[in-house]
Amino acid sequence: MQYINADITQSNNFFGNTNPYELIHEYGSPLYVYNEKIFRLRCREMKSFIPYPKISVNYSVKANSNLQLLKIAREEGLNVDAMSPGEIFFELEAGFKPEQILFISNNASKEEMQYAIDRNITISIDSLSQLEQYGKLNPGGPVAVRFNPGVGAGHSKKVVTGGKGTKFGVDSSFIPQVKEILKKYNLRLVGINQHIGSLFMDASPYLEGVKSLLSIASNFEDLEFVDLGGGFGIPYRKQENEARLDLSKLGEELAPLLHNWTSAYGKEITFKIEPGRYISAEAGVLLGTVHAVKSNCGDKYIGTDLGFNILVRPVMYDSHHDIEIYRNSDIASQKEEIVNIVGNICESGDYIAKERLLPEIFEGDIIGVLDAGAYGHVMSSNYNNRLRPAEVLIKENGEHQLVRRRDTLEDLIRFYL
Ligand code: LLP
Repeated sequence: MQYINADITQSNNFFGNTNPYELIHEYGSPLYVYNEKIFRLRCREMKSFIPYPKISVNYSVKANSNLQLLKIAREEGLNVDAMSPGEIFFELEAGFKPEQILFISNNASKEEMQYAIDRNITISIDSLSQLEQYGKLNPGGPVAVRFNPGVGAGHSKKVVTGGKGTKFGVDSSFIPQVKEILKKYNLRLVGINQHIGSLFMDASPYLEGVKSLLSIASNFEDLEFVDLGGGFGIPYRKQENEARLDLSKLGEELAPLLHNWTSAYGKEITFKIEPGRYISAEAGVLLGTVHAVKSNCGDKYIGTDLGFNILVRPVMYDSHHDIEIYRNSDIASQKEEIVNIVGNICESGDYIAKERLLPEIFEGDIIGVLDAGAYGHVMSSNYNNRLRPAEVLIKENGEHQLVRRRDTLEDLIRFYL
C-alpha cells in the first residue's frame, strides 16, 4: 500500500497494526478512525499545563461523545460538561458521577432542567429568565451562572460565544438582578462560568476573558468554582507546519492570575476548563473512498463518499482539513494538480476540500481527512437517507476495535409507525 502525502499519520503511526485499506475492507467506507494514544495524550496535556493545584478538566463532549472515548476520558481523570439531557445520559452511561458533570444549559425547557435536577447535576444558567425558571423548579438549590465576559474568539463568527452579537451568557451589568433572583429563591451560587468561543491559537482573548470573569467572580461570596471555558485550538494546517498552541506559555500566564485572585478572595477554589476540540480533534481521521474523477468546465473534481452529511465543517465554516491519500496499487501519481474533493450529496456546496494542490488522485484511492475527531461524527446526519459511518478505535497496543457500528437502512426506517 502506498501512503501518499501521508507524513502526518505515518510519523505518529496513526493506524497502528493495520492500514486504511484493511479498515475500510472490514468496516465499510466512509469510516471514522480514532487513535487512543493520541486521545489520552491530549487529556494529559490539558490536565497538567496550568500550574495551579485545583484544576478540573471538563471534557466538552459535544466535540465527540463516542461512548468508548468518554470511558477513556473518565479513566484519564477528566470530568465533563453537557449541553443536553442526551449528553448527560451518555456521560452517566460512561460511568461519570453526577458531581463530575456540569450541565451548561442554553434556553433549556423546564423538563430539561428537571432531568438534571433529579440526577443531582449542577446546572449553569445563562439568562435571568432561565434563572427564575430554575429558582421555581429547585428553590434552595445549588446553581451556576454563565456570564458574558465581553470578549470573544473563534475560527468562525458562528462559534464566537463571548462579547457582542452572541446569545450566550449574562451581561455583567445584570449582576444586581442575578443577586436578587438568587435571594428570592434562596439559591446557592456555587460557580460561575464563561466560554468565549471555539478555537483560538493566540491566547490573548482567553486571558482577557479570564481577567474579566475573575473580576465578575469577586462580586460573589463563597464560590466553589470558576469555569474558564474551552476553545483551545489545534493546528489544522500541519502539512504547512502550522505551530501548536503554546500551552506551557498559556499555563504560566494563567497561573499568577488564578493565584493572585484566590489569595485576595481568601479561598482556594477550583478552576475548571472545558476543552472539546483539543482533546479529540487530532485523535480522529476520517477515511473515504474515491469513486469518480472528472473535469467539469475546466475544474477537476475528485468524487468521494464524503458528503457533508459525514463531515459538515468545510461546508458550514469553510474549515480546512489536511488531506492524505492511500493507494492499494503501484500506480504512481505523475504530477500535482489543483483539485476539488467533493462528496455525493445533491448540493454544489458539498465540499471536503476546495482548490487543493495534491498529488494526482485515482479512482479507488482512499482519502484521509485529518483532525476529524472533533465535531465530525457528532455533527453527521442522515441527509439524503445516507448512513452515518462506523467508528473504530486504534487501541494503545495497535489493535483495532469497532466502537460504534455503521447505521443500517433499517435504522433509517425504524421511527416510522
Ligand atoms: N464549553 C462550551 C460552553 C461550549 O459551547 C463549547 C463549544 C466548548 C466548551 C468546547 O469548545 P472547544 O474547546 O471544542 O473549542 N462545531 C464547531 C465548534 C462549535 C463549538 C461549540 N461550543 C466546529 O466544528 O468548529
